Amino acid sequence: MQWRRRHCCLIKMTWNVKRSLFRSHVAGLLSLASLVGVVVLFSHQDWLLGRSGRRENPVAYTVRGGFRSQKSETNQSALRGIWKDSLPMPPKMAANSSSHQAEAGGSLQGVTGLENSLSANGSLNGESGPGGRFIAQPFRYIINEPDKCLDRKPFLVLLIAAEPGQTDARNAIRQTWGNDSVASGLDFVRLFLLGLGKNRNSYQQRSIEEESRQHHDIIQQEYMDTYYNLTIKTLMGMNWVATHCPHTAYVMKTDSDMFVNTDYLVHKLLKPDLPPKQNYFTGYLMRGYAPNRNKDSKWYMPPELYPSERYPVFCSGTGYVFSGDLAQKIYRASLSIRRLHLEDVYVGICLAKLRIDPVPPPNEFVFNHWRVSYSSCKYSHLITSHQFQPNELIKYWNHLQSNKHNACVNAAKEKAGRYRHRKLHWMVGQ
Ligand SMILES: *[C@@H]1O[C@H](CO)[C@@H](O)[C@H](O)[C@H]1NC(C)=O
Ligand SMILES: *[C@@H]1O[C@H](CO)[C@@H](O)[C@H](O)[C@H]1NC(C)=O
Ligand SMILES: *[C@@H]1O[C@H](CO)[C@@H](O)[C@H](O)[C@H]1NC(C)=O
Ligand SMILES: *[C@@H]1O[C@H](CO)[C@@H](O)[C@H](O)[C@H]1NC(C)=O
Ligand SMILES: *[C@@H]1O[C@H](CO)[C@@H](O)[C@H](O)[C@H]1NC(C)=O
Repeated sequence: MQWRRRHCCLIKMTWNVKRSLFRSHVAGLLSLASLVGVVVLFSHQDWLLGRSGRRENPVAYTVRGGFRSQKSETNQSALRGIWKDSLPMPPKMAANSSSHQAEAGGSLQGVTGLENSLSANGSLNGESGPGGRFIAQPFRYIINEPDKCLDRKPFLVLLIAAEPGQTDARNAIRQTWGNDSVASGLDFVRLFLLGLGKNRNSYQQRSIEEESRQHHDIIQQEYMDTYYNLTIKTLMGMNWVATHCPHTAYVMKTDSDMFVNTDYLVHKLLKPDLPPKQNYFTGYLMRGYAPNRNKDSKWYMPPELYPSERYPVFCSGTGYVFSGDLAQKIYRASLSIRRLHLEDVYVGICLAKLRIDPVPPPNEFVFNHWRVSYSSCKYSHLITSHQFQPNELIKYWNHLQSNKHNACVNAAKEKAGRYRHRKLHWMVGQ
């Protein structure tokens, strides 16, 4: 979604400030120590407020008062009662819902806000607002790839939200981070998620069908491909995985204007040598966000649709990663949650209902929902960076590939800075 583009990056600033501070050979341990102290204080406070809260974010304004501890004790059984108060599931889905309930675990972070929403207005049942009426069944497929996972259990499914007209972006992704050759021997599936362009019988639609025949990596359903229908698009992807590829170890949902370092994602984050995780969800964590109540905003959330003052923790829709088992759980959960057009917020609500906490990534520089200035060193250590034109994607991807094995030679100074920084941290910690 587009809102992620605008960011002032305080975190990045403090990082740069830190770096330059340590790069310049400041003498005097005392002054340095106090600086580190400040930095530590900053990042600690950052954590408290939710690091995203410090950035200007158009989606939501963080309410800094009233921060609720994520570990706040909530009465689980009372909440369970609220969530159960939902539309009857379609019979097929309901059959095994008891085992599904038993699997849900984890703390109730974020749900407290939802509890308020629910008590304020009955329940989140049914769909209303921009998405139209509640639709328990998925839209009809125009293009499907039901046999993609027939004789295989891929390690990763890449679900890439793309607009029908973005042929160039799809081709760039096929050549770069979505290319079959990237994950060195690992089995993965690439799928572009499309809705319907303005005219079903247009030239555009015929060329999409041709593209699909050639690459077999497009699924398309009969809903209008608009910004306000992004939640439908994501749920289409979840439903596809649940139905046609339930045994994939992991899924990543991302966008067509992203740079994704597939190699880092697979080998450094997901680690194919380890047994696949369950109930695992990670990405760029958005913690402590409040709904945007400005009617002129693209991210406006009407209080009637979402009365609560706070969203549960969610992961930026530019790129989140989850274990394959969650696709079905999230899809099922969605059947009893009113559709909200903010796709990533919505998935966060589904997770809150499932009582699954998104896990922070190994470090805060891995998932970026803004554009990180390019250097082969930085890009070899991240998973996502936002806002790439197809030609830029190809250019930087090729540069990264040809510098893969010495990506950081020009960053020796940087490393030295980091090393000194770590050392100081250690000294201060004594
Ligand atoms: C939680 O809620 C249930 C049902 O509302 C109630 O019976 C129970 O006493 C509550 N437990 C706590 C610790 O408040
Ligand atoms: C329900 O789950 C059990 C085991 O988890 C399975 O054996 C059974 O076939 C499932 N039933 C349906 C209707 O899916
Ligand atoms: C509850 O939501 C409905 C629409 O879903 C709205 O018409 C009604 O006014 C809301 N009630 C309250 C108390 O907010
Ligand atoms: C994947 O990469 C190879 C080698 O760069 C290239 O020949 C091939 O065309 C790419 N696949 C697609 C679908 O673009
Ligand atoms: C979403 O798609 C549905 C089905 O095509 C359509 O009726 C609706 O107008 C779309 N919503 C928006 C906000 O574009």
